[in-house]
Amino acid sequence: MATLSRIGLAGLAVMGQNLALNIAEKGFPISVYNRSSSKVDETVARAKQEGNLPLYGFHDPESFILSIQKPRVIIMLVKAGSPVDDTIKTLSVYLEQGDCIIDGGNEWYENTERREKAAAELGLLYLGMGVSGGEEGARNGPSLMPGGSFEAYKHIEDILLKVAAQIEDSGPCVTYIGKGGSGNFVKMVHNGIEYGDMQLISEAYDVLKSVGKLSNEELHQVFSEWNKGELLSFLVEITADIFSIKDDKAEGHLVDKVLDKTGMKGTGKWTVQQAAELSIAAPTIASSLDSRFLSGLKEERVLAAKLFDEVIITDDQVFVDKKQLIDDVRQALYASKICSYAQGMNLIRSKSEEKNWGLKLGELARIWKGGCIIRAIFLDRIKKAYDRNSDLANLLVDPEFASEIVERQAAWRRVVCLAINAGISTPGMATSLAYFDTYRRESLPANLVQAQRDYFGAHTYERTDMPGSFHTEWFKLAKQANM
Ligand SMILES: NC(=O)c1ccc[n+]([C@@H]2O[C@H](COP(=O)([O-])OP(=O)(O)OC[C@H]3O[C@@H](n4cnc5c(N)ncnc54)[C@H](OP(=O)(O)O)[C@@H]3O)[C@@H](O)[C@H]2O)c1
Repeated sequence: MATLSRIGLAGLAVMGQNLALNIAEKGFPISVYNRSSSKVDETVARAKQEGNLPLYGFHDPESFILSIQKPRVIIMLVKAGSPVDDTIKTLSVYLEQGDCIIDGGNEWYENTERREKAAAELGLLYLGMGVSGGEEGARNGPSLMPGGSFEAYKHIEDILLKVAAQIEDSGPCVTYIGKGGSGNFVKMVHNGIEYGDMQLISEAYDVLKSVGKLSNEELHQVFSEWNKGELLSFLVEITADIFSIKDDKAEGHLVDKVLDKTGMKGTGKWTVQQAAELSIAAPTIASSLDSRFLSGLKEERVLAAKLFDEVIITDDQVFVDKKQLIDDVRQALYASKICSYAQGMNLIRSKSEEKNWGLKLGELARIWKGGCIIRAIFLDRIKKAYDRNSDLANLLVDPEFASEIVERQAAWRRVVCLAINAGISTPGMATSLAYFDTYRRESLPANLVQAQRDYFGAHTYERTDMPGSFHTEWFKLAKQANM
């Protein structure tokens, strides 16, 4: 190659290879490198095949770095954790002051903050950039969440604006998220919300299939129909598709042959851990994580199913009107989704306040509208809610969401009760409803918990009718009262 590349990318597995091709396709000459050579050759061959894209492969880190124009910008897309440190070590030997490293992986935000500091000591700039959308998004337009050095962001802004998913009425799905590890943190919560969405959809499927006795053909119809309305989203769309796929190795539909054990890579767990750290209730997201844990106990569940077979109410004791059930489940799914997003957004806001990141929640909803796994028409409503009031305490109290929840609560309660009576677990929907019912009540039984804490631990309590902190000798008084 005669001229220098505009940018470099190291790490050419699924995400890196596709993002590199996307960048090249947008007209930015790109140099690529991978620890093992075969992926470099594969990527170069694809670039040729996909229209002689300006992508140049390198098998050694030095010639890779030297092929990039200064100040150099290098995106890394390698496995999170120590591979990122290894890659920085390999590349930084050849980097110069003012060059910039961008980690596009699902990294723990504190690792990014540590690396940003270490990079600054070498005179390098650093960004942690969440990339969502999987293989397809990386190739054709992901949602990008860059956080860290603003100067670094400015070096690459022109590229990101072109490479990100483009949404007609709201622009490219990228924005500078904020300082430090905010890009990774926001991507982590995005993934937690994704866990919640998938759990709620799977519960809707379970109720329709197990209680409503819908066939895969009917499920395909129902989810396709839902994807034309308020539930329009990537996940509902692919769910409809899944029900239409026949097994190519045996009779029937493929979905029925997929083993019911859900995998995970850790971002959902981090989200729940962070929610606990920050005292933010995130029960819908937590229930999706618990459901994945329980799904993993397949062998135990097989044994338990035999033991408890008789305690479950039989099908003929549950009466349902199919049409009504489908409509109720749609409403329960939508109402639960509002609760799940409210939890995720509150978690982001709480972290933003703790770290002084100044994150704009409406802007996050905007960049999730395209490219990413949770893209949905619903995000437009969230953006509008924060446009109306950027200090909104909870999405539930936005006037539009509040009235949508009220309209749907009868159906939502019917679905949860029906599932409980049928012995079908719907932890996401049930816990979302409990979140709503807890949040909307002026009085909770927390008075009793406070009294208990003061009784056994002298933890004190506040009163409803006068200011101050009080302690009562409950045991002594109880003895006197019961003499
Ligand atoms: N896959 C997705 O849908 C998706 C979506 C969003 C975000 N992400 C995140 O994006 C990042 C990349 O994901 P991925 O699925 O494309 O790849 P991955 O399977 O997470 O990682 C494979 C890449 O990491 C490299 N690597 C591993 N250990 C290394 C080391 N010690 N030193 C240098 N390189 C090393 C591999 O190089 P070799 O070829 O030499 O082994 C390969 O290029 C991850 O953080 C992932 O969590 C993935």
